[in-house]
Amino acid sequence: MTDHTPDRNLAMELVRATEVAALSAARWMGLGDKEAADQAAVDGLRTLLGTVSMNGVVVIGEGEKDEAPMLYIGEEVGDGSEPLVDIAVDPIDGTTLLSKGMPNAIAVVALAERGSMYYPPNIAYMEKIAAGPEAADAIDIEKPVADNIRAVAQACSLQVRDVTVVILDRPRHEQIVREIREVGARIKFISDGDVAGALMTALPESGANLLLGIGGSPEGVITACALKALGGNMQARIWPRNDEERRIVEEEGLDTSEVLTMDSLVRSDNTFFAATGITDGELLRGVHYTSRGATTQSLVTRSKSGTVRFVNATHQLSKLQQYAAVDFG
Ligand code: FBP
Repeated sequence: MTDHTPDRNLAMELVRATEVAALSAARWMGLGDKEAADQAAVDGLRTLLGTVSMNGVVVIGEGEKDEAPMLYIGEEVGDGSEPLVDIAVDPIDGTTLLSKGMPNAIAVVALAERGSMYYPPNIAYMEKIAAGPEAADAIDIEKPVADNIRAVAQACSLQVRDVTVVILDRPRHEQIVREIREVGARIKFISDGDVAGALMTALPESGANLLLGIGGSPEGVITACALKALGGNMQARIWPRNDEERRIVEEEGLDTSEVLTMDSLVRSDNTFFAATGITDGELLRGVHYTSRGATTQSLVTRSKSGTVRFVNATHQLSKLQQYAAVDFG
């Protein structure tokens, strides 16, 4: 029987794709044009993913086929050879961040064995809790915010007042914010980008200990792929945002109280993840231009080996021209 298990460290190949996506998108930093930036990132990502030896299917992508010409859900990517894999892409997590030149916009790809990724059932958001390795066993989405913060404090040998909680700055988080403030922890509000927000909790130098709140479902699956290698933990619950989504929940018999663990989000011990910084942030440095070209910084992980790499690269822009439609010159 053929063994379909991906045996190479595919993340080392994926990082070339996120680098080109980031380099392509970075030209649009601060220019206020989210669509153009996203298109540039998609073009770059797709071109490079096409060169990877794999038979990939986009499970999490730019949308359904009729709304996304490229990297749509169900699109086949790679050169068609083994291994058979699921791919999740977020060519820019933080399109608004990039369009305003704000921190932590990143280009992201995750990959795992075929059939292993959770397919968010048309419910845009998930309620999430995530923490790094020290507090991986301390979090419980079913417990009150205060309990989680106290447990994280204990696991990280911190005072409660020293715990930093990352949360998207949204009106829907008013109650959670109130509870965090009542227990006395610190808050780092992010205006977008909860993949970077969650991953920060697994990188001690970022200063973040816990991510709470409601964010995108696709981002939840992608985050789980990375946290598996980083040794962190995440739990989620689908969170229907309107009547239409409540109807989907009803019709499809979904359970909003079901806790989605890391293994429900990606049923694999062999996940691959690559992210390249587009704008400077706590997680990654963004694209910088130099007299010779451009530099990037990427996070590259594989859960099976637990390898976590930070890859600093210098790119000659003239060479990149051949990979993407965007004008790098
Ligand atoms: P995009 O870059 O795709 O717009 O996503 C940014 C993001 O902030 C995600 O990181 C997050 O999960 C989601 O949007 C939150 O959604 P919303 O902005 O609707 O609250």
